[in-house]
Amino acid sequence: MMRDKRRRLVVANWKCNPATLVEARKLFLATEKATPSRGNVDVAIACPYIYLAEGKKVLRRVKLAAQNIFWEETGAYTGEVGPRMVRSAGASHVIVGHSERRERFGETNEIVRDKVGAALAAGLCVVLCVGERSREGDAAAYAAFVKEEVQVGLRGVAKSSIRNVVVAYEPIWAIGSDEADTPERTLEMALYVRKIIADMFDRSIAQSFPVLYGGSANVGNARAFLRDGGVDGLLVGRASLDPKIIGKIIEEANKV
Ligand code: PGA
Repeated sequence: MMRDKRRRLVVANWKCNPATLVEARKLFLATEKATPSRGNVDVAIACPYIYLAEGKKVLRRVKLAAQNIFWEETGAYTGEVGPRMVRSAGASHVIVGHSERRERFGETNEIVRDKVGAALAAGLCVVLCVGERSREGDAAAYAAFVKEEVQVGLRGVAKSSIRNVVVAYEPIWAIGSDEADTPERTLEMALYVRKIIADMFDRSIAQSFPVLYGGSANVGNARAFLRDGGVDGLLVGRASLDPKIIGKIIEEANKV
């Protein structure tokens, strides 16, 4: 497969940061500045909902993503935000099933599936997060865990919509830690995810299917993941909050 011809995608996952709109605006502008107008890399910022409208105002090259979504468009659901709302506020992408939502907010694979369906129906591109909790024990067990997350999360997705889905492989133990996965292991998992996609959809879809790596991605390992890890891009948490660092990661991604 001619992996080096593929476009790169860097998704900056700001999580519940920064604390103010003023800081968000600065970070939007710095990330925009670091994003080349021509080149091989697409950049998206997954910011808190409340900053989307500001992002839409100031960003040109960088796309916007929500970090979560509700599975209904509108209705009596206090505190929830529907997919068409974030679309109209400027988001083109949405992260669904991040492990922090699964672990801290009780999102099951079935909830994730409903969110994926609603997001696609609203015309959003979905970044579906999957990844095992730990690598201890039987390799077949954690592979099965990831397989279930992909299969259930994408159940019911039409062949015509799958091109609007990206899977982010994020081993949970590597998120927010100092220990990223290795490119070798990520390559295995990226191939494994594409095999699941081939079985669910078809081989040609699987071959061009984008997989991202996430979990302590940083300047020092970005190039190795993109070159040797079989992935098309990165989902970057902490490192995306520092304008200099995210700028360097974008630069690395554009080189590979
Ligand atoms: P991290 O987070 O880069 O801070 O490990 C990644 C993520 O949770 O998406």
